[in-house]
Amino acid sequence: MHIVHVDLPGRAYAIHIGAGLVNRAGALLAERCSAERATIITDDNVGPLYGDPLAESIELAGFEATILGVPAGDASKSLEIAGQLYDELADGRHARDEPIIALGGGMVGDLAGFVAATWHRGVPFVQVPTTLEADIDAAVGGKTALNHAVGKNLIGAFHQPVLVCTDIACLETLADRDYRAGLAESVKHAVVADAEFLAWQERNLDAILSRQPDVLAELIRRNCAIKAAIVASDERETSCAIVGRAALNFGHTIGHAIEAACGYELRHGEAVALGMMVEMDLAVRLSALGDVERRRVEELLARLQLPHQLPKGTDTADIVARLDADKKVTGGTPRFVLPAGLGEVRWSSPPSPDILDSLARVITP
Ligand SMILES: NC(=O)c1ccc[n+]([C@@H]2O[C@H](COP(=O)([O-])OP(=O)(O)OC[C@H]3O[C@@H](n4cnc5c(N)ncnc54)[C@H](O)[C@@H]3O)[C@@H](O)[C@H]2O)c1
Ligand SMILES: [Zn+2]
Repeated sequence: MHIVHVDLPGRAYAIHIGAGLVNRAGALLAERCSAERATIITDDNVGPLYGDPLAESIELAGFEATILGVPAGDASKSLEIAGQLYDELADGRHARDEPIIALGGGMVGDLAGFVAATWHRGVPFVQVPTTLEADIDAAVGGKTALNHAVGKNLIGAFHQPVLVCTDIACLETLADRDYRAGLAESVKHAVVADAEFLAWQERNLDAILSRQPDVLAELIRRNCAIKAAIVASDERETSCAIVGRAALNFGHTIGHAIEAACGYELRHGEAVALGMMVEMDLAVRLSALGDVERRRVEELLARLQLPHQLPKGTDTADIVARLDADKKVTGGTPRFVLPAGLGEVRWSSPPSPDILDSLARVITP
């Protein structure tokens, strides 16, 4: 088993990574929390698979466990569903020392995390991620969020978990498309922070795609270590001069706009892969990324079978218009984090014609 520490003053926590951790989550929780009850929030795909084993582990450790289910899909990251969960917590008289446990992918983590951040102004929160996206990104770093009609993740709070239990065995049931979408975030981490990790992914590509357990555990460990270090240096993304936590937005400024323009039919990681393609094109022209590096990352994305072209007829003007709804717009110009080489990023505010050009280059001819 691997352990990655997230070193935040007063809120430090450990990410445990290994096979079978759903069954050990109760014992790990009991080391950190002495409440009598715990509430598990999950979705209707994950609940039937892992809800009972997790509840059993929690009960064996001496807690009374309750499972609350929500419909699967990003539409559940809403104020309406959060409201239903508050009602259920109120009915069960969930007290302020009782932990809320997110069992699921990034959707459940963001929703349950937001509820944990706000119920009684904050109750202990535990992440038990079950998708690769959540294992390597969403479950690490304390960002919680709900979507608003105007844009994704516009409502949110920072609320660090007290514990993360990443059971790699849960990935056995994850659909191939969801698994591959998660790998986009792994490429992102390598590009923004660790060129050697990019080479490691290239070398281990077959084992990654076949979900070989040792390689999977190491992939998750390295991603968590990169994200934990970035989060520890700039927990609330407040650095302005240095890039800090905003480095993790590489691929996401365009990616979120693509996601919205496609009516959320793409997986988050698929939109991020496309976003990275467009932003690397901008980076070659406006930042210091070399064409050789760009092509190397593009090839890795293609070998991971991630989408690397926007469909013919994509309305690029619509995508640029949607950038304005993004939270990172300052003074009317969208701000991008662009790679300046492998493992290095810098701020850039590309003019709209350049963004349109880069989008056009990524459209299927
Ligand atoms: N807070 C953050 O820092 C952060 C970072 C990245 C992404 N996110 C958010 O995460 C969400 C995307 O996360 P996701 O890609 O995990 O999507 P998801 O949570 O919607 O999961 C994808 C699908 O897989 C199913 N599933 C989950 N685990 C499974 C398993 N082990 N076996 C079978 N099916 C399983 C889910 O029910 C769902 O249908 C987005 O809302 C995104 O905004 C948040
Ligand atoms: Zn992401």
